[in-house]
Amino acid sequence: MKIILLGAPGTGKGTQAEKICAHCHIPQISTGNIIREAMKTKTPAGQKAQDFVNSGKLVPDEVVIEMVDDRLKQPDCANGFILDGFPRTVPQAQALESMGVHIDKVLDIEVPDQEIMQRLTGRRVCAECGSTYHIQFNPSQKGENCDKCGGQLIVRKDDQPETVTQRLQVYHDQTEPLKDFYQAKGNLVMVEGVGTVEEITARTLSALEA
Ligand code: AP5
Ligand code: MG
Repeated sequence: MKIILLGAPGTGKGTQAEKICAHCHIPQISTGNIIREAMKTKTPAGQKAQDFVNSGKLVPDEVVIEMVDDRLKQPDCANGFILDGFPRTVPQAQALESMGVHIDKVLDIEVPDQEIMQRLTGRRVCAECGSTYHIQFNPSQKGENCDKCGGQLIVRKDDQPETVTQRLQVYHDQTEPLKDFYQAKGNLVMVEGVGTVEEITARTLSALEA
């Protein structure tokens, strides 16, 4: 199955993508994670992306499209995948079509902006393995360290309140129009994103089976 997870920053796309991947045995393709890894290892694409990411803007379409095109050619994508955070603009969605990719379902996770601010400013991520926590909703049992690998938990640079506000603005301006784009194609499903992680996983899985 080929799935897109649409939704504003902090709606739990990454959290839900992990659950769906484990359930459906397909890879999670998170452009945010790919870009952060490229920034960490200072590849040319990572260097181009850095200022955009840290200021809450979108990385230019051509940079992200090339990354996704390369990733989808890997053999593990043959039986399906879940795109977490791509496409985020109409040109990116058109590029995906030009790659000949047929998407089965587009899940749009909906969470009010006010709750998003609380989720993102309280998020902590492992500097080593990238696991995600929340100081209130999903704290690590090891305090400042990751439950899974012991790595240090840090705040993402783009989770500062002003940057979250900017990311939400960018979402409403550039990504939200994709709802109409996929609605017109008939494969958009709305998932209510407020509730516990388990409740939302149950909703996403039933949306996929419908
Ligand atoms: P990216 O990493 O994709 O960030 P994002 O879309 O802004 O989304 P997040 O990862 O912040 O949130 P999420 O929805 O995954 O939520 P999570 O599960 O972590 O992109 C980062 C940057 O890269 C972009 O700003 C841009 O610059 C660039 N980029 C990436 N893709 C691009 C593209 N296609 N084109 C151009 N540029 C691109 O959950 C958030 C928090 O909430 C966590 O702390 C979690 O524990 C908690 N939480 C999750 N579910 C629940 C729940 N049900 N209840 C309470 N808390 C919850
Ligand atoms: Mg994410």
